[in-house]
Amino acid sequence: MTPLAENQVVLGDCRKVLETFPEESISCCITDPPYNYEFIGRQWDHAEITRRMERIKDSSTLVKNIPYGSGLAGGVRNKRWYERNRENIVDYQAWCLEWGQSVFRVCKPGAVVAVFSSTRSFAHVQVALEEAGFYARDCLVYRRHSGIPKGLNLTKKLKKLGHKDAAEWQGWHSCLRCEWEAIAVLQKPLQNNYVETIEKSGLGPFKAINRDGSFQSNILEGFSKAPDESFDAHCTIKPLGLIRKLIDLFVPSAGHHVILDPFAGSGTTLVAAYQQGHPYVGIEIEKAYLPLIKKRLAEAKSGRLFPVFGDAG
Ligand SMILES: C[S@@+](CC[C@H](N)C(=O)[O-])C[C@H]1O[C@@H](n2cnc3c(N)ncnc32)[C@H](O)[C@@H]1O
Repeated sequence: MTPLAENQVVLGDCRKVLETFPEESISCCITDPPYNYEFIGRQWDHAEITRRMERIKDSSTLVKNIPYGSGLAGGVRNKRWYERNRENIVDYQAWCLEWGQSVFRVCKPGAVVAVFSSTRSFAHVQVALEEAGFYARDCLVYRRHSGIPKGLNLTKKLKKLGHKDAAEWQGWHSCLRCEWEAIAVLQKPLQNNYVETIEKSGLGPFKAINRDGSFQSNILEGFSKAPDESFDAHCTIKPLGLIRKLIDLFVPSAGHHVILDPFAGSGTTLVAAYQQGHPYVGIEIEKAYLPLIKKRLAEAKSGRLFPVFGDAG
């Protein structure tokens, strides 16, 4: 197998593309796959998402930017709904296992895979990656303070129906405000122990002591997006400072460590890797995002200082 071509972004389905990468060539994978909101029938089906969003755009009750099929965009949570939803999440987990196995093969012993997921899908991602061969190390909380309450406002619904008990249900909703995202942290088994693993791959432990001497918590907060990391650039863009922090936690600055993002999106992980002095490889299935990734990387390489909010520690 030919050596890994570093500092590149490959267009395609990561499950296929990863097959062409050499075994044990990656030191860390930081990624943000689709959360199963827009996930339909084991495909990242852009046309289908657009069609469903179009269908709900005039609805006054459904959450506008979360397409039907997500389990969040509406639907009565009855037995029939649950059965359909269950099928969907089981498919999602099987899909995570597929890419998880491909990532496992290319990771070095002791490499960390850090995967963003929603509070609902986190368990499935973790179990799939464990099945792929990684072992669970932690679940980091990325606290983002911006969750909009979604779901049904019961009193409003009952009032609309003219229900006699509407007032009694004041303050009751179908869910809580979600203001954190999970980051599943798993690790490829060590080469016997930490000492042998750092000798073989230069990996294994976490950088737990911060610059100010504090011991790093597994709650990450205070990271916000710069003005150009907006929804318009890519609908699920992550704060650059947050990704840089993850790299600092899991990848030693000494040594040659390639960082992988198989779901590159707008290329945040790749830009962060570059800025932290590491080679990177990204994979993205949507051709339309490649110019954005290339633009952000070119700006980073031209020395543009991205405003990074929350580079604490
Ligand atoms: C949640 S976004 C990642 C956003 C990224 N964290 C950022 O800051 O821009 C997930 C990305 O994965 C891509 N994707 C979905 N399925 C894929 C697959 N099988 N292979 C490669 N990319 C895929 C989507 O097109 C989307 O851009």
